[in-house]
Amino acid sequence: MNERPDERIDLLSAAPADAPAPIAPPPIAERTVAQRGPGLVERVGGRAVIERVVEEFYNRVENDPELRPMFPEDMRAGREKQAMFLEQWMGGEPRYSAQFGHPRLRMRHFPFHIDQRAAGLWLKHMGDAFRAAGVGDQEIAEVFVALGPLAKHMVNATDDVPRTPLGDVRLT
Ligand code: HEM
Repeated sequence: MNERPDERIDLLSAAPADAPAPIAPPPIAERTVAQRGPGLVERVGGRAVIERVVEEFYNRVENDPELRPMFPEDMRAGREKQAMFLEQWMGGEPRYSAQFGHPRLRMRHFPFHIDQRAAGLWLKHMGDAFRAAGVGDQEIAEVFVALGPLAKHMVNATDDVPRTPLGDVRLT
């Protein structure tokens, strides 16, 4: 019988050869996004540290010849949105949704051709960014057990989806 490949491992194996070893999952059964540990925002160091993570992430995108062309020339608005979203997604104040409506993340990414490799690079940069911002191993594991599948969910390169930008249209 053919074994169905584990999706997360599949995604991580799409990362470039020089990518660091995958971050070990927490010593508990796989948790869903809604089941992340309590107080995660506070435990990573609060808004200031999340903003630092995003700064580190965008600095890596800025220097990535494969991902950079996908992003707009001016990435300031994206940085701000990403920081607001991440804080909300980690259980913090829902400032992203208050301003932009339901995240509808997969739909918002339709304008970009995201393949497995792009998702692997995105995850590698985000992992490096969390480490560079000094976030602890336990918290990183909690974040990435959910962020890995979420990044894979953004992969749309071979899907027949509308590619027109959604902008900041509220979709709810
Ligand atoms: C998997 C590979 C991914 C790629 C290549 C990618 C790429 C992009 C690009 C090019 C933008 C537009 C930036 C801008 O307009 O300034 C964007 C926006 C955004 N991305 Fe991603 N992304 C990926 C995965 C993710 C994941 C996993 C998350 C969730 C943590 C995420 C969260 C966001 C958010 C919140 C925005 C702003 C959306 C908006 O309100 O316009 N992305 N992404």
